[in-house]
Amino acid sequence: MNRGPATTFEPGVEAAPVIAIDGPAASGKGTIAQGVAAALGYRYLDSGSLYRLVALQASRQKVSFDDEPRLAALADGLELSFADGRTFLSGQDVSEAIRTEEVSALASKVAVLPRVRTALLTRQRAFRAPPGLVAEGRDMGTVVFPDARLKIYLTASAEARASRRYKQLIDKGNSITIQGLLRDIRERDARDSARAEAPLKTAADAVVLDTTDMTADAAVAYVLQQYQTLSAAGSTGGRERSKKA
Ligand code: C5P
Repeated sequence: MNRGPATTFEPGVEAAPVIAIDGPAASGKGTIAQGVAAALGYRYLDSGSLYRLVALQASRQKVSFDDEPRLAALADGLELSFADGRTFLSGQDVSEAIRTEEVSALASKVAVLPRVRTALLTRQRAFRAPPGLVAEGRDMGTVVFPDARLKIYLTASAEARASRRYKQLIDKGNSITIQGLLRDIRERDARDSARAEAPLKTAADAVVLDTTDMTADAAVAYVLQQYQTLSAAGSTGGRERSKKA
């Protein structure tokens, strides 16, 4: 029997719950979402990696970043897989290659294209499976999983985000400056927020969490506590707004 997309369940069976975590570049989404997923035994979706994979493949194949039909076809045909925290493109481990600042900037350029976003929608929704999913990105709560049980919108000052990203990149042996990173992050935020299609914005029913002065462990604990409160109440949406721990 064809059961259709992963979001379709037998009548009477609740779709697997989703925790949607959105926010700007380097706001800690990845670390926090992975911590929450590990604590709950849920699956984890890093939706940004899909845009990064499209950007990497397009740049390798010298596809113009203005050629929307070709980029959408490329997004449609990506042969990707994830295993043990690594990301594979056509069987090749590209985990480091997709994290460079160059690919970050290119990813936010392909992400403005509606046909690329549409091509990636089904792939993202296919990650939803029991016992649940923690999905992070820019439009998890607004577009991809509007029925998410809990929606979190992470913020942090651009300076705090640049300094976190700086530490990560320096640890990996990259030579960059904080000033350069701050400029890149601001450019990416502006492009992600200004685009017409699925822009970065706070879902109306999201809990806003400012992590500027928070450790990742504290942020994970906060999200888990919000989720437990909602689950205990049998609720299906965010209830509080503008939380600052
Ligand atoms: O989250 P990350 O920084 O890896 O995402 C890379 C880029 O992919 C973002 O700057 C954004 O333009 C795009 N993106 C998006 N929608 C998502 C996730 C990422 O447009 N859900």
